[in-house]
Amino acid sequence: MSAVNTKLKDLLGWVDERFPLTSNWKAHLSEYYAPKNFNFWYFFGSLALLVLVIQIVTGIFLVMHFKPDASLNAAGVPVAFASVEYIMRDVPWGWLIRYMHSTGASAFFIVVYMHMFRGMLYGSYRKPRELIWIFGMLIFLCLMAEAFFGYLLPWGQMSYWGAQVIVNLFSAIPFVGPDLSLWIRGDYVVGDATLNRFFAFHVIAVPLVLVGLVVAHILALHEVGSNNPDGIEIKKKKDAKGIPLDGIPFHPYYTVKDIMGVVVFLMVFSLIVFFAPEVGGYFLEYNNFFPANPMQTPPHIAPVWYFTPFYSILRAVTYPLFGIDAKFWGVVAMGASAMIFVLLPWLDRSPAKSIRYRGPIYKTFLAAFVISFFVLGYLGVLPPTPVRTLVSQICSVIYFAFFLLMPIYSSIDKCKPEPDRVTSSGHGVKK
Ligand code: HEM
Repeated sequence: MSAVNTKLKDLLGWVDERFPLTSNWKAHLSEYYAPKNFNFWYFFGSLALLVLVIQIVTGIFLVMHFKPDASLNAAGVPVAFASVEYIMRDVPWGWLIRYMHSTGASAFFIVVYMHMFRGMLYGSYRKPRELIWIFGMLIFLCLMAEAFFGYLLPWGQMSYWGAQVIVNLFSAIPFVGPDLSLWIRGDYVVGDATLNRFFAFHVIAVPLVLVGLVVAHILALHEVGSNNPDGIEIKKKKDAKGIPLDGIPFHPYYTVKDIMGVVVFLMVFSLIVFFAPEVGGYFLEYNNFFPANPMQTPPHIAPVWYFTPFYSILRAVTYPLFGIDAKFWGVVAMGASAMIFVLLPWLDRSPAKSIRYRGPIYKTFLAAFVISFFVLGYLGVLPPTPVRTLVSQICSVIYFAFFLLMPIYSSIDKCKPEPDRVTSSGHGVKK
């Protein structure tokens, strides 16, 4: 062993006596045994981590130049809006940082929706992974809050009117509603007070909680071990040393696999950032290139694409109930549609976890759910018409039926028997 190696080993020994570096490296990477049959769907957890880092780093640089101030400058433009324009035009590489952050927001939702869908495909939320799923849902809630707060900051027309519409929804709550929305805004209309508090939540409060939840999410995952596309527990079959027969060390096998996912992701991400950052008005809405004007309501206000499935469900509720107006029930339905996923571990009674061994009824319901999610998402971008409202009502019923009927259809569905061992060639690792 060379002298340098010996010195490095000594240094590592010195650190290990004071900090659990090697033991954590082993527990979470080199001796964390993950199922050998991970596929495409298992890229999205590490990609979500990557996007989180991109958002935090680009966010820090944006904060260096952004000013959360709704007052008008000498040219009559709101200071916050002008500071974003300044970032785009005058700050060196500011346009890149800003487009990475705005593209990152949509990328986050694409990656997280794929990640959640993987959980639904392979029953990853089922025992013993309920807490991973609950932490995941809390992350999703934080992510929605983070995106909503962030969207107000550039103080464009959509920022302003979008926030106005959403905060006003709270006023539909009986008795406390109007006071509650006033309390959230900090003013009678969305204004400087709102901008400042949304800024505080966006740059520090929510990200802190988000990062804490991500740590808890991964700790919970490493406590029970990953699920896999066959939905069977690899810990049930171990060798003499206690290592799962179908497990391979996360490092180097999956670190290398994940790097490939990162490279492909960054290629697509760069194409969008450099060539189409607005993505036809879906990632950055056209109306948001106009400064906020409290005197002029845009003809059509729609949230960004990642909220539109839930927004459609809000608009689909058009009937009052128990003497309370439809708006309130719309808000309830919208909230329920975003959070109902949290119940999946207790709604699913199927003997098989993975879609590979589930019966035709589950597959049909899942397909109908996915289609209704997309249709609702599409309708949410468009202004409502009677026909569109009817279609969104039908899709909302299908959406909720997928969850609420699950205890029934998942228990009567005809599943195939699950295999004893995972079905994969295992990346060339023979055991
Ligand atoms: C910032 C957002 C998130 C990050 C950084 C994140 C990170 C991760 C990572 C690194 C893994 C392990 C790798 C993998 O299985 O793909 C994982 C697994 C998992 N995540 Fe997330 N996650 C996030 C959001 C969510 C959400 C919103 C949910 C669902 C509500 C969720 C549910 C799960 C489940 C069930 C697993 C275990 C999957 C399995 O073993 O098959 N995660 N997550």
